[in-house]
Amino acid sequence: MMDYNFDELVERRGTSCVKHDMLKEVFGTQDVLPMWVADMDFKTPDFVVKAIKERCDHEVFGYTFAPPSYVCAVVNWFQSHYGIEAKWSKMHFIPGVVQGIAFVLQAFTQPGDHVLVTTPVYPPFLNVPHRSGRRFVSSSLKTVNGRFEIDYEDLEEKAKECKVMILANPHNPGGTVWTPEELRRVAEICYRRKVLVIADEIHADLTLPGHKHTSFTTVSEEAFHNSITFFAPSKTFNMAGLGSSVCYVPDPDIRRQFFNFLDANELSLGHLFAYVGAEAAFRYGEEWRLQLLQYLQGNVDFAIDYLKQHAPKVVAMRPEASFLLWLDFRAYGLPHEELVRIMIEEAKVGLNSGTDYGADGEGFMRLNIGCPRATLEEGLSRICQALQSR
Ligand SMILES: Cc1ncc(COP(=O)(O)O)c(C=O)c1O
Repeated sequence: MMDYNFDELVERRGTSCVKHDMLKEVFGTQDVLPMWVADMDFKTPDFVVKAIKERCDHEVFGYTFAPPSYVCAVVNWFQSHYGIEAKWSKMHFIPGVVQGIAFVLQAFTQPGDHVLVTTPVYPPFLNVPHRSGRRFVSSSLKTVNGRFEIDYEDLEEKAKECKVMILANPHNPGGTVWTPEELRRVAEICYRRKVLVIADEIHADLTLPGHKHTSFTTVSEEAFHNSITFFAPSKTFNMAGLGSSVCYVPDPDIRRQFFNFLDANELSLGHLFAYVGAEAAFRYGEEWRLQLLQYLQGNVDFAIDYLKQHAPKVVAMRPEASFLLWLDFRAYGLPHEELVRIMIEEAKVGLNSGTDYGADGEGFMRLNIGCPRATLEEGLSRICQALQSR
């Protein structure tokens, strides 16, 4: 068994990578340690790289369909990990999850329709409806014992005016792994109110030790017959640049409507390296994933302890999944713009601003801890030093 080295520092600058090479555009300066956009600073696993190199050796990159070996690897992964009765006939290649969400909005809603989200939430859940002429309606999450909870009464009220709900399961930025009971209640409300649920499960494979991901469709008949679920290997295996997501649509009527939309818009074929990369990830990736989860758990513990010790007024939500830390700076009483300025100009760290996640994100920032521990320590030390005198 191989021991993977997540401590290795990899130079990513100069590869047109969003996280490291777009700092000037996003933060107004190159001089920040990038701890924002949600990919990791680890190498994409060797078995993914090897599969792509081997395919490159053939030297012809013509039109390519989803090969049976890819289909088999995808279906096996979702059956064995989440117990969904995944058959390829109920699944479909999707380049990216956010694109998939946009496709659902195009296929099932009209401009002016309302889209339900729970905030704070991953910014494209707000921007995609907005930019396509839909309107998002937000139900604020409550923080109970350091974990996000859904306000079901409010959700029910807001659902009345909505056609679609976009649910992050697990949640981003909170890292909340929703329980079967929580998902069942969402499914019940949405089914009764005729709100189609998009379950974005891109972070599912990154559920941290001690927690268990429940795939939305498995919780009830209401969930099964009223949802479109998206998965991807991109977060787990650090291959977001390969655009290789899938959707799973168990209900035959919803599936027909959605797959017809995809076919009509020529969105059915993936690209060659997406298939090759995803197949290798799902075929050979379990050991790598388990070691990654151990490392990420170590980073979570390290970051939370470090903040407690050096900046106890910062409250970190302990994630149950993934590599994102939602940090509450409200105890400093700073206007949000001043908090953002301090992080960029004084701490010199590039974090995601909380208000991008909805109005509930005022006073919060999101820290990406998917990096070698040394990088994490450097980022935390910069944050804590900038806050020291405040
Ligand atoms: C909840 C969630 N959905 C989707 C994405 C992005 O997915 P994709 O790159 O496949 O569009 C992210 C990335 O951070 C995410 O956190």
